[in-house]
Amino acid sequence: MILGVGRAIVEELGAQGKHEVILWSRRDPSELKIPGVNTLQVTDYSHENLVNLLKGTHTVLAFFNPMSDPGSQNQIALIDAAVAANVTRFAPSEWAGKVRSGIKMYDMKLPVLDHLENLNKDKTVIEWGLFQPGLLMDYLAHPCPPSKHFDTFPLLFDLENARACLVEDGSAPLVFTSSADVAKVVARAIDYPGTWTVDGGIVGQRTSYKEVVQTAEKITGQKFTIYTLRPEDLERGDFISPWVPAYAPNLSAETMRDVVVPFISGWALGIYRGVADVSPVWNERFPDLHYETVEEMLRGAWARFQAQKKAEH
Ligand SMILES: NC(=O)c1ccc[n+]([C@@H]2O[C@H](COP(=O)([O-])OP(=O)(O)OC[C@H]3O[C@@H](n4cnc5c(N)ncnc54)[C@H](OP(=O)(O)O)[C@@H]3O)[C@@H](O)[C@H]2O)c1
Repeated sequence: MILGVGRAIVEELGAQGKHEVILWSRRDPSELKIPGVNTLQVTDYSHENLVNLLKGTHTVLAFFNPMSDPGSQNQIALIDAAVAANVTRFAPSEWAGKVRSGIKMYDMKLPVLDHLENLNKDKTVIEWGLFQPGLLMDYLAHPCPPSKHFDTFPLLFDLENARACLVEDGSAPLVFTSSADVAKVVARAIDYPGTWTVDGGIVGQRTSYKEVVQTAEKITGQKFTIYTLRPEDLERGDFISPWVPAYAPNLSAETMRDVVVPFISGWALGIYRGVADVSPVWNERFPDLHYETVEEMLRGAWARFQAQKKAEH
């Protein structure tokens, strides 16, 4: 089911109504009713089928979850079909930070970048570019994100329980951008007359986890418990903290060890090493756009959280 940033972008494109928007999913289209969007069930990723489906398409945006597309097989099949069908522009499923950063957990995205670079080696056969919003700001709002279609978890920061995991003192700069702002940028980028570029940073707000905690303390009046992580532990893949942020409660010990810890320690190390400290490339192209701040996101989340608690009692 398309959730997260993909959903936000598709909703925005559908709402703007400037272009025909077709959402592909392997699921039953009746599960995915989005105003202004036609949903098509696509399960056959054979070249012939994809080329037929893509004929007449100008731009393809990919939101594959790389964890469930082994070897990026289906995404690469989509790229090859897009080239054969003369699609003009393609955005691979990046939607995060700097690429080729040397962080192991991001390696699964490399086959797609390698493939695109290889295709354009001698001449441009497809224009492609990235959208890199850093960390999606919606995670800071867990458990009350602005959209019910954004599946959050407390990514190193837990507003509800006033705790955070910081690498060293948490002052490494990083960028947070809300999924709604990413959607606004992408909607403008569809009509952008220039060329999309591999460097495609979007900066909602450049800050640090330390500042996020300070802002949250000001808004909630709660003192946060801080768990300090050491980069050398993270490099070894260890996440040494009494609290290990997980994407779901009650996961098995194996899932925690094999999935959660590599993922969360990869993010923590990436943030520390500046992977999410992207440049404002798209901001400079559309200087009139305004971006939600961390303070605005946290204030909204805290208000929703208080309202939810009140309704429960
Ligand atoms: N910067 C950030 O903070 C951040 C956070 C989260 C995600 N991301 C990035 O955003 C992108 C989307 O991630 P997500 O978590 O939003 O993904 P998601 O909602 O879990 O999945 C997105 C889509 O992937 C499709 N998909 C998965 N495996 C597939 C396969 N083998 N074949 C065809 N389709 C497949 C699913 O299609 P169906 O509808 O057919 O099931 C789904 O619509 C990823 O590149 C991810 O790294 C960035």
